[in-house]
Amino acid sequence: MKDLLAYAASLAGEYLEGVGERHVGATASYGECLRLLSRDLPEEGAGAKDALDELVRGAGPGLVASAGRRYFGFVTGGSLPASVAADVMTTAWDQNAVLAVSSPAAAAVEEVVAGWVLSLLGLPEGAGVGFVTGCQMANFTCLAAARHQVLRDVGHDVERKGLFGAPAVTVIAGKEAHATLFAAVRMLGLGQDRMLLADADDQGRMRPSALKAILSGVSGPAIVCAQAGNVNSGAFDPFDEIIPIAKEHGCWVHVDGAFGLWAAACDGLKALTRGVAGADSWATDAHKWLNVPYDSGLAIVANTAAHRASMTIEAPYYVRTQGEVREPNHWVPESSRRARGFPLYAALLSIGRRGVADLVGTNCRQARLMAELLDAEDGVEIMNRVVLNQVVARFLPRSGDADAFTRRVVAAVQDEGTCWAGGTNWHGAAGMRISVSSWATTDDDIRRSADAILATFRKQREE
Ligand SMILES: Cc1ncc(COP(=O)(O)O)c(C=O)c1O
Repeated sequence: MKDLLAYAASLAGEYLEGVGERHVGATASYGECLRLLSRDLPEEGAGAKDALDELVRGAGPGLVASAGRRYFGFVTGGSLPASVAADVMTTAWDQNAVLAVSSPAAAAVEEVVAGWVLSLLGLPEGAGVGFVTGCQMANFTCLAAARHQVLRDVGHDVERKGLFGAPAVTVIAGKEAHATLFAAVRMLGLGQDRMLLADADDQGRMRPSALKAILSGVSGPAIVCAQAGNVNSGAFDPFDEIIPIAKEHGCWVHVDGAFGLWAAACDGLKALTRGVAGADSWATDAHKWLNVPYDSGLAIVANTAAHRASMTIEAPYYVRTQGEVREPNHWVPESSRRARGFPLYAALLSIGRRGVADLVGTNCRQARLMAELLDAEDGVEIMNRVVLNQVVARFLPRSGDADAFTRRVVAAVQDEGTCWAGGTNWHGAAGMRISVSSWATTDDDIRRSADAILATFRKQREE
């Protein structure tokens, strides 16, 4: 085992030491990966080392260097060294973070990390924190707690009776809420098409006046979903205005803050989140801006009774011999699961409060640098106000369709390989979406990437 793990560690180390200079996008397509990886399941096993070699050989060309310095796709940061190492230990320890009795250490580390995260984000001390797979499940978990409470307030027990016979629950969100929020609403039986969408401004921020107008026509249980970090612009809903409006109407307020919530950990940026602590629940990711490996999201709910009531699973064999302690499965939809607290613990301990603030602040400064470098070029437009780590750029051809041209530039940049940025469609126009969210990105990486993007743009413009 030790030799095998040393071998794996040397392969992983080699990969990570070289990842910064790899072609950032995958060099093999899905079809090529399928061909490389496909074989008949052998009757006799190949043995551990051969299996690992085969995996590395087959998967290698299809890997995206998202752990590297110039990957700007999907707001996914790399992974801090301590969190990678702790994730390896988490795998070796193979703890089941379902109950305190199945792993007292996994349960206790969650309690410690929960306290750290609440303090970093300025959220209410003692709020419930569930360690889920990502922000999709964090949104789901928080909205399950919301559904519990708003129906309980009108005398309906949704966990026992379901939505049968329940008064209608109105879910209100901004027009630019994230796709996963709608998915959470669907999964909770609240009906995506029944949602009421408040108008948003040109940066995607919910307009308080639109929320007010909607709520004036709503009676009965209601949940308002706000957003910290628009997936395109990075903009924040004005929490200090919309939360009081929602509260005045007796609504539960949920905040989807997959990446944006981390702005609260940085003094220079926390004004963007002003008022956010007045909400009832918050969903965020650790695998995005906190730079820990997948999969790691956090579902945070101020009302711990509602959080637990919507999530706790009981079974006669779930014997809780550890007394009154944190039970990991009180806070998440899952039963058996990975001990996600360990890599978070190591990540936070390794960089500390100041390290988190620097990571977030530096990436935002780098996003502004990227925007400046691109904006200086004739024929490149920055579509958003760069308030966080997001830049949306549009590329104009000498003549013809700017949407098609922008998409061509995005594809050509991905093929060129110096950096990777995704495409988007925002306010009816195609754009290149650049998210700066890795601890490893340097200012030089931003300059190299901007040079590569602009060289590709110029080349495409001349073709
Ligand atoms: C605002 C927002 N909410 C939710 C999500 C979904 O997060 P995950 O993919 O970790 O489930 C994202 C992902 O980018 C996001 O930006």
